[in-house]
Amino acid sequence: MRALFNRAPIARPKRAVSAIDACERTRSMILVTGGAGFIGANFIHSWLAGMSAGVINFDKLTYAGNRGNLRSVEADPRYLFVQGDIGDFELVTRALDAHKPLAIVNFAAESHVDRSIRGPEDFIQTNVVGTFRLLEAARAYWGGLAGEERSRFRFLHVSTDEVYGSLEPQQAGSNEKSAYAPNNPYAASKAASDHLVRAYHRTYGLPTLTTNCSNNYGPYQFPEKLIPLVLLNALAGKSLPVYGDGQNVRDWLYVCDHCAALRHVLERGRIGETYNIGGSCEKTNIEVVLTVCRILDQLRPQPGGRAYQSLITHVSDRPGHDRRYAIDSAKIRAELGWKPAESFESGLRKTVQWYLRNGDWTAAVSSGEYRRWVDNNYALREAP
Ligand code: NAD
Ligand code: TYD
Repeated sequence: MRALFNRAPIARPKRAVSAIDACERTRSMILVTGGAGFIGANFIHSWLAGMSAGVINFDKLTYAGNRGNLRSVEADPRYLFVQGDIGDFELVTRALDAHKPLAIVNFAAESHVDRSIRGPEDFIQTNVVGTFRLLEAARAYWGGLAGEERSRFRFLHVSTDEVYGSLEPQQAGSNEKSAYAPNNPYAASKAASDHLVRAYHRTYGLPTLTTNCSNNYGPYQFPEKLIPLVLLNALAGKSLPVYGDGQNVRDWLYVCDHCAALRHVLERGRIGETYNIGGSCEKTNIEVVLTVCRILDQLRPQPGGRAYQSLITHVSDRPGHDRRYAIDSAKIRAELGWKPAESFESGLRKTVQWYLRNGDWTAAVSSGEYRRWVDNNYALREAP
């Protein structure tokens, strides 16, 4: 079968060119939404390093979006940034008509459970209404394509294992046929978006693909999420907040393994199908925090030699906190030949090393709005 996307990487430019000029010279593009966030930025880096098609990064730049995540590709003629909201049908339509992407990869979302509990509105707007408008724009665009452009087009929607809700300790991991049972506003909003994507395929024939992945970790993750929060707090000598008893279980997936899985799905996934992507790496939260502490003890010991784990503090639990998520990735492994390359130990070590090397990045994202969030969120969590 002919590859949907060519792999041959093109040479990097010797001089910076304007993105608009560059795009006029670029033959093929994909449109990535939410590419200035954690997973989207990693995806764009890996895409541009390995594929010949360019990328239009369509991102609203919320608190979680950071153009600095893509500084090193800004001068690449295959890369174009457009600031916009996926809920803005006209702007999305203009971007699609101007650049004629081969595919849309939708990462754009409000993504943090704790924020969804404190303020669900933005989650409904972006994850539900925004995805709906993006689907509408994609449907109109795809409807106007013909021939190979039409048959090659894909809409890949990136979603989460949280839509399946909490599992009992002995239950098998969620597979693509598991029932949806979202338990917090974030999970519910993502579940709604998944249903819309499914309906746009079944009703209108839009060539969609959906992926549901487990907890990602790696470079460029905003420090509101467990691993970077613990890492940066530890380096600052601050307490490491563990919700409740710390026995909640998550499956952890190194972000570069996730990006590789998404490329497999985009290239060879069956239209209309869902693929679950997990790291086969279930850990309790306390195990995760202890592992971060142990790696830091080795790579950046505290002055005075005190172990970082002495900073662990149990704080009040998250309301509706799901006890366990686990993913069965058998389908993507068998059908598309993907499997994760990193173990938790190797992926986490790479992650810690990245944060230690990129103090400027963390200082830049840890200012302003982020500090206000941390002050409010953790001030409200007293010890149980
Ligand atoms: P993130 O919060 O780091 O980034 C989200 C990005 O989307 C930001 O750049 C933000 O500016 C942009 N964005 C938000 N609202 C937008 C809008 N209305 N229009 C355009 N852009 C908008 O998120 P992430 O961790 O990179 O997650 C990416 C996707 O993967 C999300 O859909 C999320 O639900 C899903 N996911 C993430 C994880 C994880 O562990 N991080 C796990 C499972 C699924
Ligand atoms: P998080 O990184 O917010 O991801 P998600 O809620 O999508 O799984 O949280 C991962 C786990 O860590 C989750 O069970 C909640 C817990 N957690 C803490 O114990 N302390 C914290 O400060 C944070 C942010 C999360």
